[in-house]
Amino acid sequence: MTLPADIRAQLRLPLVCAPMIGVSGPRLVAAACKAGIMAGLPRHNAASFEQFEQWLCEIRDALARRLDETPDAPVGPLAVNLSTALDAAEMARELDLYRRYGVDIVISARGNPAELARRVHEWGGRIFHDVTSLRFAEKAIEAQVDGITCIASGGGGHSGQISAFALVPRIRAMFAGTILLGGAISTGAGVRAAEMLGADLAYLGTRFIATAEADAPDEYKAMLVAGDAEDVIFSTAINGVGANWLKASLRDIGLDPESLPRSPGRGDYSHLPEGRRPWRDIFSAGQGLAAIAAVESVESLVERLESEYRAACAVPVFPPAG
Ligand SMILES: Cc1cc2nc3c(=O)[nH]c(=O)nc-3n(C[C@H](O)[C@H](O)[C@H](O)COP(=O)(O)O)c2cc1C
Repeated sequence: MTLPADIRAQLRLPLVCAPMIGVSGPRLVAAACKAGIMAGLPRHNAASFEQFEQWLCEIRDALARRLDETPDAPVGPLAVNLSTALDAAEMARELDLYRRYGVDIVISARGNPAELARRVHEWGGRIFHDVTSLRFAEKAIEAQVDGITCIASGGGGHSGQISAFALVPRIRAMFAGTILLGGAISTGAGVRAAEMLGADLAYLGTRFIATAEADAPDEYKAMLVAGDAEDVIFSTAINGVGANWLKASLRDIGLDPESLPRSPGRGDYSHLPEGRRPWRDIFSAGQGLAAIAAVESVESLVERLESEYRAACAVPVFPPAG
């Protein structure tokens, strides 16, 4: 079993509400954990260490209330999305905070996770690292991470470009730990499909933007409901890293998605219209927006994903029995 039993016991579904810059705040994360799935809170969404501590405190209070009300319902594990680029003192301070607030898992996405993994293991936590290629997966395995999140093609944010069908089985063959799969999964059948490919958990971002609890503007959520897979474009032009962007949000600030100005380099936005910033003014989404029909509460979304998942698990094998 590649999903540790203590994590499995906290889950209603093999599902993670993935961390998202500008979108995942304490309300979304608490709602997801309360619904019985894992959720990731990006450290970089908080303006300060103190604000982040306040958020962790709010989430813990909300989860404790839930456990008081319904002691038998699973409350999902809490994860924090942390940069691998912190210095030793910053890392120690952050990890000490997470230990105090019962964070179960650290999610890292870029850079070499070796030092972070060593420190997370020192305090008895787990680390999951995002990868978009086999080379990055090999580095993550060398760094002794506990889980690898395969970010396949069509995903929201800094997406990969390799199909999930090619990526997950290759990584499964070389890694005995927990595997998560992200990229264009928005339905319960998609969650089941991730398992069939060899993943332990499905990692959904875009689908959770279109929820009442997500910290995203209404126009962003409306674009997800209205949009289809062809309404996103994969490009390195916006911030120098390959990512999927909503074409409508590019047009809204006067950019032509088919003829984008080139990014001068990471962190330099001089090629964008005055004062415009990726994530805040240019919205990211994965191709899984095609399956989004409405903005709903996290609770009702997870309920629907669960019934779709159970229906997908009950599909007879080919040829049909009898
Ligand atoms: C708006 C947006 C912001 C994101 N921000 C982050 C982030 O801050 N850190 C991170 O590790 N991944 C980030 N991601 C990637 C997600 O964690 C996840 O890998 C991805 O959303 C999965 O694909 P999906 O959106 O197709 O479900 C972001 C994705 C989106 C859509």
